[in-house]
Amino acid sequence: MNGLTALITGGAAGLGLACAKRFARHGARVIICDLPSSKGSDIVDKWPSIVSSSVNTELNEPENQVTSRLNDDKSTVKIPLSNNSTTDQNIKLETPTFFPADVTSDEQIHAMFNEIIQQHKRLDVVVNCAGIGIARRTYNINKHTMHNFDEFKRVLDINVSGTFNVIRWACHMMSENQPNAQGQRGVIINTSSIAAYDGQIGQVAYAASKGAVVSMTLPLARDLSSMGVRVCTIAPGLFHTPMLAALPEKVRVLLGNMVPFPRRLGRSDDFASLAQMIIENPYLNGEVIRLDGALRMPP
Ligand SMILES: NC(=O)c1ccc[n+]([C@@H]2O[C@H](COP(=O)([O-])OP(=O)(O)OC[C@H]3O[C@@H](n4cnc5c(N)ncnc54)[C@H](O)[C@@H]3O)[C@@H](O)[C@H]2O)c1
Repeated sequence: MNGLTALITGGAAGLGLACAKRFARHGARVIICDLPSSKGSDIVDKWPSIVSSSVNTELNEPENQVTSRLNDDKSTVKIPLSNNSTTDQNIKLETPTFFPADVTSDEQIHAMFNEIIQQHKRLDVVVNCAGIGIARRTYNINKHTMHNFDEFKRVLDINVSGTFNVIRWACHMMSENQPNAQGQRGVIINTSSIAAYDGQIGQVAYAASKGAVVSMTLPLARDLSSMGVRVCTIAPGLFHTPMLAALPEKVRVLLGNMVPFPRRLGRSDDFASLAQMIIENPYLNGEVIRLDGALRMPP
């Protein structure tokens, strides 16, 4: 990770923010893209305390053993032994850049990439985490109401078209990268969901969008093979992010207990850790990886 430049969409919350924190701790230069209404600016302003906080402080999850010596902007962080590192190392901790942009807007994403070229010169990694979910039945027989069509299209627009929009601009930039010794120019990671396989009642729009992200993985990997860009997708199960934090504690415990093992909700750093492994393993390509503790959702 050290020295890589990584763009993370939806990086101002949940799974994306966990990637931003983990990647930065491992020496990557992080670029966060999220909506103007997100906490992106705040996160950048308070970066030293945010990056040194536990993986899920705001959600009262157990403390990660991150010890840090922090100054204002750039700090030296002592990284503890983690899943992916065998030795402690001293790295330069850089404050991320925040670009407020909507992934569905060609204009805004184009402008963001122009800025990235100016400021960072290169891009090695993209993690697409920007996404939304809704819960609507196709038809409610009791109320005789149907699924709102605009809402359906909005979910597809953000989760599928938004992901693809960012990928095509990222490829444009990665094509300028000097390939590494193995011919690799970059890595793209998309975020699906187990709803792509086990879509539940009310998840027709969400499951359709996440199924599309799964289906895009192989053709993207094939399309980009000639330029040395790998593409993988993570399909998370139930994760303890702001998306789920809105649920009452009782419901979250119930959901966690549905997971065969480990019997808990996923932690956002579990996701970030897999993203890091995908980046670091040069032979992972065109694959969708379920990250769900063997959970299979009921109807
Ligand atoms: N949390 C889970 O249990 C879970 C499970 C499976 C899949 N996922 C998927 O993982 C991804 C991240 O989920 P999360 O739980 O971290 O959600 P989250 O709501 O905490 O974070 C999503 C981020 O995406 C941003 N975003 C939304 N629309 C955007 C747009 N048009 N342009 C730019 N940014 C936009 C939001 O502002 C937010 O910061 C989503 O795609 C979600 O569907 C989450």
